[in-house]
Formats: sequence, structure tokens, C-alpha cells
Amino acid sequence: MRKPIMAGNWKMNKTRDEALEFVYQVQDALPSKEKVETIICAPSIILRDLVKRQGDNLRIGAQNMHEKDSGAYTGEISALMLKSTEVEYVIIGHSERRQYFNETDESVNAKVKKALEVGLKPIVCCGELLEQRENGTTHEVLDTQISKAFADVCEDSLSNVIIAYEPVWAIGTGKVASPEMADEACGYIRSLVEKLYSKKAANEIRILYGGSVSTKSVNELMAQPNIDGGLVGGASLKADSFIELCNACVK
Ligand code: PGA
Repeated sequence: MRKPIMAGNWKMNKTRDEALEFVYQVQDALPSKEKVETIICAPSIILRDLVKRQGDNLRIGAQNMHEKDSGAYTGEISALMLKSTEVEYVIIGHSERRQYFNETDESVNAKVKKALEVGLKPIVCCGELLEQRENGTTHEVLDTQISKAFADVCEDSLSNVIIAYEPVWAIGTGKVASPEMADEACGYIRSLVEKLYSKKAANEIRILYGGSVSTKSVNELMAQPNIDGGLVGGASLKADSFIELCNACVK
């Protein structure tokens, strides 16, 4: 049995006060850690404050990191810096990073390896553009993204890895993928993990769906056999909807 995960991706939202108020509002209403792994991925500047207030049932992650250990990279944050704030997770290769900040499959791979090296758990994002979905190349896109993201990553470290399937056309658009479509893609990613590693690795790895998940769509999505949880932007910003999303993951 794979433990479900509900991960909020706050993107560039919430001041420190707003973030702390959110934690205060949700902390007693979230499912226990035995039932759901609940994560908030917050802007870097408030990570330390949130880590100090996290409980067993709410863990904290970052949204990005640089692959180098240190150096002249103005404005960047290293994996070790994240680790020193005691966050557990880091989103890597989100499509907004790929689209606006020139992230490539190669930088995603370097970041995944660095995150694992320092003991962070990467949430590795993949997903096709609308035109790729329409011209029938979704599987090819996922093939490339997954095989490149995990190049030289050994099977032993996969227990610390989460994959998020996020079709780009569904992110922030209100156009959620149908449960069947999302499940098919997550199942395909699982088959890629089996091809690259083993059946055991494929059975154990958690694969999330992301892209306009809401309190309306969450139940049907979570009922799909290949979907182990959600990576949620907009609907994770309000305490009451986030609580509902997390409770919908309890199996
Ligand atoms: P959304 O964002 O839920 O607002 O579509 C999801 C994401 O970008 O991770």
C-alpha cells in the first residue's frame, strides 16, 4: 500500500503572516501522518518559520533549488541551504520553472541528484503541453522527461522520490484532466519506472496528479488506482479547501 500524499504548492503567494495564519488554521484539522503525508511547499523566505511550526501531520517543502553547492549564482538557493532550514521536500522541474526560468531535463536531473545527495526528498514534475497532448505525443514527452530526470539515480534512492504528473494545459487553468486521463498518464509513468528500474520500484513509488485539482475533482482523482495524491496550487491556498483536499486522500 502506497501512503497518499497531498502537497500544496503555494508558488509566489503568501506573506509570512499569512503563511503562519494558515498553519494555525489547518494544524488540528489535518489527517494523521499514518493516513496521509501532508506537505506545504512554500516560498523560501518563510520556510524556516514554517518548519518551526510544522507538526507530524504537516511537513514543509521548498519549490526549487540550485544544483550547485555554492558560488556566484546571485539570488539562488542551494540544496544544503534548504537542508539547513530542515525542510524535507523540494519540488523540482515544475513546468513554470521550465517555462519562465529555462529549466531543462538536464538541470532537473542535476537537481534531483543533488537533492538526494543532501537528504532532501524531491517531488519531480513532468507533463505535456496542450499541443503535445493534441498531437498524440504525450507518452514520448513523458518518456524523455522521466528517463532524463532519473539518469544516474540509483534504485535505492527512489524511496525518497515522489513524481508529480502535471499536464501543463491543466495548471492554473481550471481545466482539470479527467480522472481516466490522469490515471492513464500516471500508469504510463509507473510503467516507465518499471522499465528503468524494477516492478518493485514501480509498485512503491508515489505518483501525484497536479493541475487544477479542486475540492470538486479531488475525490474522483484520488479513487484512481495509479494516482497516489495531488500537487495542488490554487486550492491549497485557503485553509478550509486544503483541509478538505487532505481528508479526501484518506483511503
Ligand atoms: P493549480 O497548480 O492547482 O493551481 O493548477 C498546480 C501546480 O502548479 O502544481
